[in-house]
Amino acid sequence: MYCLVYMSSPTHEMGEGEAQDLLRRAKINNDRDGITGILIHDRRRYLQYLEGEEARVETTFARIAMDPRHRAIIRLHGGTITRRQFPGWAMTSSVTAKAGCLRASVERMVQNCDREVAEELLKFAEARDRAAFNQTARPDRRT
Ligand SMILES: Cc1cc2nc3c(=O)[nH]c(=O)nc-3n(C[C@H](O)[C@H](O)[C@H](O)COP(=O)(O)O)c2cc1C
Repeated sequence: MYCLVYMSSPTHEMGEGEAQDLLRRAKINNDRDGITGILIHDRRRYLQYLEGEEARVETTFARIAMDPRHRAIIRLHGGTITRRQFPGWAMTSSVTAKAGCLRASVERMVQNCDREVAEELLKFAEARDRAAFNQTARPDRRT
């Protein structure tokens, strides 16, 4: 079992309908490919955790990386895991939280994860919450 984590930035703000279409498509494909995981995002960043058979995860990531709906894709982590972290989610579940509230929602979603995975996802959520806070304090700065 293999996992891969990347971060990226949306190229434009997705409307509700567009986001749902993306997820629907992703779910169909991931179901077919035996991939599970989570997609966490606020308006400025995506963090996606994918898990499954290595070759399938890599093929999926290669497809995602070419998607013009996001840019500045940074692969953060890839490696072996002993068990699926999100077995119940036959595909990425998405968290769109209001600015500054990402940590609380991610916390609920990582309850059954191994500590290292939970920490990585929570660290991202905390950084995004801090960025949202700084944005409120300094609206002229992009974070
Ligand atoms: C942030 C983001 C996350 C995505 N996650 C997935 C995913 O988990 N699985 C997937 O198949 N496609 C995902 N996609 C969509 C792919 O980039 C691509 O559009 C899709 O896989 C094409 O599927 P199709 O050939 O069946 O139309 C994602 C796209 C973005 C922008």
